[in-house]
Order: sequence, then structure tokens, then C-alpha cells
Amino acid sequence: MKHRRVLRAAVTVAVTGALAAGMTMALTTSANAGTTLRASAAEKGRYFGAAVATGKLSTGAYTTILNREFNSVVAENEMKWDATEPQQGRFSYTGGDRLVSHAQANGMSVRGHALLWYQQEPGWAQNMSGSALRSAMINHVTQVATHFRGKIYAWDVVNEAFADGGSGGRRDSNLQRTGNDWIEAAFRAARVADPGAKLCYNDYNTDGINAKSTGIYNMVRDFKSRGVPIDCVGFQSHLGTSLASDYQANLQRFADLGVDVQITELDVMTGGNQANIYGAVTRACMNVSRCTGITTWGVRDCDSWRGSDNALLFDCNGNKKAAYTAVLNALNAGPAIPTDPPTDPPTDPPTDPPTDPPTDPPTVGCAASVSLNSWTGGFVASVKVTAGSAGTSGWNVGFTLPSGASVTNTWSATASGSTGTVRFANVNYNGRLGAGQVTEFGFQGTGSASGVTPTCTAS
Ligand code: XIL
Repeated sequence: MKHRRVLRAAVTVAVTGALAAGMTMALTTSANAGTTLRASAAEKGRYFGAAVATGKLSTGAYTTILNREFNSVVAENEMKWDATEPQQGRFSYTGGDRLVSHAQANGMSVRGHALLWYQQEPGWAQNMSGSALRSAMINHVTQVATHFRGKIYAWDVVNEAFADGGSGGRRDSNLQRTGNDWIEAAFRAARVADPGAKLCYNDYNTDGINAKSTGIYNMVRDFKSRGVPIDCVGFQSHLGTSLASDYQANLQRFADLGVDVQITELDVMTGGNQANIYGAVTRACMNVSRCTGITTWGVRDCDSWRGSDNALLFDCNGNKKAAYTAVLNALNAGPAIPTDPPTDPPTDPPTDPPTDPPTDPPTVGCAASVSLNSWTGGFVASVKVTAGSAGTSGWNVGFTLPSGASVTNTWSATASGSTGTVRFANVNYNGRLGAGQVTEFGFQGTGSASGVTPTCTAS
């Protein structure tokens, strides 16, 4: 089924934003400038990445190419839901952690793929629906994004939620059936869990201006206008033997909404046009100043999920193909990302959800405000704590929850109690705040928390 899909020459565009705090990407001239994909991309302020199966990291021929040519990685399978939460509430990060360590040791950034996808759901989640699934899904996003917090450049928060064909609408899935707001709920939870990661929507068959890409475009525009936290769109770009003539124009129209774009899973069917298509995709990214990087879905042809398509840049012996040269030349010929970050359109709404009350001016003590993301039977509360003019060495925020509401999960704070009056104390790294400084924590609960107001006390 996947293969059939690929043959349709999907176009996908991925968008990501800046490097996560604490991550490094070599942007300066290096000895290899112009001669490897990673150095040439870095010279232009971009990354060049590969999907990695962590089991192959112990294969020397594979890792030699990976480390020489790529400065970004994404887990081919190891960060998906079935891998990271094989049983409900039991998390497994072995493969993901291994990839992150490899990246950190080799100057690579990491794309996170994918927090929510209708495929590769663990069996227990496939059997869930309604508010139980909504709750499990938000918990998954929160736990996984928290585990990798500070280590991920960009997360594919939601993968492949739109339908193929002419409808431009959502794809049916158990996630979609929890309510149309499941995507924005996921993005809000991801932002709270890892505020430094760029948050992307990722899909395929979006390789030009078509009904599906326009459906996604409309969602991104709506999210930006309502302050749903989205930073980037990923275009998978599993391509066939031709490329839509408006591939670049499509990237550009997303960039013009004020999000970054990225090519996230590039592979191209072999044939006379393969090198040309690789070159054209790379040029399109270079010509869009908010296109921050390109990832190929594997390293050598034999590593590819596309079987006999020979869809990648290196042959099975690790030799560079004509497609490699086309990409390298396009990287070297392309413009650099302007030093001044592109200015968002003036109509850009504030990033915070519009329901956010205005932040209280700094006062002695502290102030707290809450933004609720609610669904039938549950909610996630994102809480901002602002230190008063004296700063804080610790803080404590209290809520009185309506009857029937109960806290099930808390992050970046320690909860006392779960029903009625619940108090949240700082954890060791976020208690000390300078005057006016803001920190955030969150909690998830069952029932309804609508109308709650926090009170903040500082020590
Ligand atoms: C693929 C992997 O490459 C395979 O190993 C796995 O069996 C199935 O998933 N779109 C995506 C990727 O977002 O996660 C998919 O990866 C390829 C299609």
C-alpha cells in the first residue's frame, strides 16, 4: 500500500524552524565546504539529513557515509508511537536515545518523527477511541516530547492526517474520530513539553499546489490566525519520475504564512530523471529562504523502504550516484539563508492561544495565568508563572478544580492533591526566576476545568 502511494509521485513539504536551543549546526566555512552534502548545506545556513535505522549504526560502511555527508538525522522507526510506548504508559527510548547520542557525538541535529500518526500506532492504541484515546494521545505527546526535551530541532507532531484525492479534507482514523481539534491539541501539548523544538506538520502528496496541499495550507493559516503553536511544515517528497512544476511555488506559499518549510523524506524513483529531480528539489529549497533543510529517507539504495526503486543518493556499495552530484551542485550554487531572519507577515497573530489572558504586569510575588485545551472528558492546562519585581527563589500555584475534575499528569511542577484544591510547586530547575521572568508548567486531567483561575505565591 505504501509502495503504491509512492508511485503516485506524492509531493510533501516539511517546514521546520531554527535549531533548538543548545543544539549546534556548523554554519561556518569548513575544510570540506563544497565537497560534502553536510558542509555545503551548512555553508548556506541549512542542514542535510538522513533517516537512520539505528541497527545500522554498527555497520562501518553505513556510518562512514552518514558521518561524512549528513549533519542531521531522523529515526526511520525508533521514535514512532509503537516503538516508544509499546504498552500503555510503558515507555521505551532505547533506539531514540541511541540516535540522539550518535547525533550529539557527530555534530548533527535531530528531527523527531513522529509523535502522532495513524500508522504504526501500538496495538493498544489501535483498539482505543473517543476520550480515552484523546487522553492517551496527549499523554504520549507530553511524555515523549518531555523525554527528548532540548535535544530535538523539530518534531513532526502530526504525520499524514490529510486524505489523498480531491477532498482536501482530513483522513479518517481513530485519532480523527476523537474530534477535529486533535491536531491542535497535540501541537499545544508538544509546545508545553518542549518549548525549544520547532513543531511541524508533515505529509506526502503535497509536492505542488493541489487539493491535499491546499487543505493543509488552510489548516496552517487557521492555526497561525488563532495562535495554535505551529512552526513548520514538512514535505515528505517521496517522488516518482516527474516533479510538479509548482513544487517551489508550493513551498513558498507555506513560507509566506510565517512557517519554515523542510523536505523531510526525500527519495526519487530511479530512471532517467532521478538526478534532475533531486537537483530540482534541492534548488527549490535553496530558493525559498524559509526552507531550512533537506532529509533523504535513508542513506544507500539498499537501505531504502522503497525496495528496488534505487531511490537514494548512494548505491548499495556506498558509491555516489549522479543524483548525489546534482544535489551537491545545487547546494553549492544556491543562495544562503539571509542572515536577518525573514520577517513574518505583519498580519501574523501572536503565538499564544487567543484565550490566554494578558500576562499580569510584574508585581512583588508572582502572577499565574492558565490556558486550557479542553475536549469532552478531559483537558490540558498550560500555566505561565511570572515573577514579580523581586524575583522568586520558589513558587507555588493553586487551583480549585470543579467537582468531577481530577489531575492525572503534571510536568515541570510537582502536584499536591488531584481533586478540589490542587497545588503545584516548582521543580528544582524552574523555581529561581529573575524579576519579570516567565516559566511554564502544565497538567492534564479528566473532567472539565473550565473557569479555573490560578493563584500564585512566591518564596
Ligand atoms: C517507513 C519506514 O521507512 C519503514 O521502515 C516502515 O516499515 C514504515 O514506515 N512516511 C513516513 C515514514 O512518514 O515514517 C515512513 O517510514 C515512510 C512514509
